[in-house]
Amino acid sequence: MLKSFLNPMLAACIVVLIVVSWMIGGNTEEPNYEFLPGMLYSIPYDSFAVNEHFPDGKTLQAPIPGTIPRGHMPLHYAATPEDAARAGNELQNLFTAEADFLQRGAKVYATFCIPCHGPGGRGDGPVARRGYPPPPSLFAENSLNMKDGQIFHVITYGQGNMPDYAAQVSPEDRWKVILHIRSLQEKEAAKLERNANETAPEGPASYQNASGSEESQL
Ligand code: HEC
Repeated sequence: MLKSFLNPMLAACIVVLIVVSWMIGGNTEEPNYEFLPGMLYSIPYDSFAVNEHFPDGKTLQAPIPGTIPRGHMPLHYAATPEDAARAGNELQNLFTAEADFLQRGAKVYATFCIPCHGPGGRGDGPVARRGYPPPPSLFAENSLNMKDGQIFHVITYGQGNMPDYAAQVSPEDRWKVILHIRSLQEKEAAKLERNANETAPEGPASYQNASGSEESQL
């Protein structure tokens, strides 16, 4: 019973093998048999080629409104003083004062900010000394009280006579340069405190006077 079933099966296998080997073909000059050639060869459209499958006839479709490019963080603030204040309240610097970030911040400052703000942040950069409206010192009350988010807004949109630096300074670098400004401010505060202690070692009351008079010189 088994034998009578096996023999036709083996015969069928041989026939299939012969057919397959014939289909693969011995002729190396010609391509082999192609199963579903429509899947083998796709029909790509060039980006700028006409394309009848889209209503506007173009292959390259414009992104859907509101699409955000990869790696791009949208900033939902307008270039207004109100939104600058709002950015100050809502945005936080997620970079902490680590050596790498500070180093990068110092480099960004040296490249983009020194021309006007000066190496020490006193608003005496070479451009300001040659007649550009000098920026206020970064150690004046206004900058000291400015929140990180607002400085981010100033760099992104500019402020008054300061042009915006959104195109030159990436968002990450903006936060890092803010770290650098904070570190300049801390060093300045420490210096003022040292000076105050040297000139008036008696106590906090005279310290305040000393730092006040120092401030007015800036
Ligand atoms: C072309 C000159 C120029 C450059 C370069 C420049 N600034 Fe300014 N910046 C100004 C001026 C002028 C102001 C004052 C703007 C105003 O309110 O009229 C200012 C204001 C500021 C303020 C606010 C200070 C305050 O008390 O209102 C900050 C913070 C600041 N700049 C940071 C930066 C940083 C960070 C960079 C570098 C990425 C930079 N600026 C580059 C000219 C410049």
